[in-house]
Amino acid sequence: MSNNVRPDSMQRITTRELADAFIAEQVAAVRAQVGDKKVLLALSGGVDSSVVAALLIKAIGKQLVCVHVNHGLMRKGESEDVIKVFGQELDANLVYVDATDRFLDLLAGVSDPEKKRKIIGGEFIKVFDEEAAKLEGIDFLAQGTIYPDILESIKAAESGKPVKSHHNVGGLPDEMAMELVEPVKLLYKDEVRVVGEALGLPHAMVYRQPFPGPGLGVRCLGAITRDRLHALREADAILREEFDKCGLAESVWQYFISVPDMKSVGVRNEKRYEGWPAIIRAVNTKDAMTATIEEIPYAVLHRITQRITAEVEGINRVLYDLTPKPTGTIEWE
Ligand code: XMP
Repeated sequence: MSNNVRPDSMQRITTRELADAFIAEQVAAVRAQVGDKKVLLALSGGVDSSVVAALLIKAIGKQLVCVHVNHGLMRKGESEDVIKVFGQELDANLVYVDATDRFLDLLAGVSDPEKKRKIIGGEFIKVFDEEAAKLEGIDFLAQGTIYPDILESIKAAESGKPVKSHHNVGGLPDEMAMELVEPVKLLYKDEVRVVGEALGLPHAMVYRQPFPGPGLGVRCLGAITRDRLHALREADAILREEFDKCGLAESVWQYFISVPDMKSVGVRNEKRYEGWPAIIRAVNTKDAMTATIEEIPYAVLHRITQRITAEVEGINRVLYDLTPKPTGTIEWE
């Protein structure tokens, strides 16, 4: 337990120099821990797993095997970015699994949000396990555990509630008894980001807004269909692009589109056009327990609306959700 406690003497990593020193220390520690053995990492493309991947590539190169499972519910360009940054630029040992059909087939016709989450989580573990079982001679499992995860687990244990598992990958087969490698487990999120930039990861990847594990699955509301999921992904990409352009991406904590399973009547090219509404959500929060609504300049909302309704097949209206948390949750599902 003691090596899960951040020493009072540990300096906060706020500068490039401090990050470089941390990286050098962890590179040595990982090499000492791992030797010439292989390490497995589930690389989602999120901040924590990306920083761990970059750090381990620096420490042990091809001894790290990254598995990126594309569940078909990623945002536009995200899996491509993982392949570009890790597979090409960092020359990682990357296993890319496109499991889109598996996930979407299982989710077909399922509208209950909790059932959808269970299917996505369960299938993710299955796919990852299958890939892991194909690999030979893996002795270590790397994880992007960060210090708030550890503090949360300690708090849960003290309160008598079951300890929350932070294993990103969950139930690995028993025979794969693997030792953990968790190089950023004593860092806070802001420090992980400084380390990520020092490792040369793209700014957009390191400062990526939070994204739920079930991905667009909880934003394609109700039973997911491929055409509505596609429309959601395209509309969300436009929202992100416009937020980037006007600087809102730097100041808003989380912003995204949801598309409900309902259509309204509209007009396009002078013809009746039935389509889905795209709902914009843009919230600020410290801990996601409560959230306030960002005041988006009307001109920005107007431009986003114009672009989405003109460019995205199947969408004929854009709505802005003004509900804080409570009473709304951040996600619609
Ligand atoms: P809610 O909707 O509960 O969201 O107000 C709070 C924060 O949690 C994220 N979220 C999830 N993250 N798996 C995740 O990893 C999930 O199933 C999940 N549901 C919500 C949400 O995006 C927000 O940042």
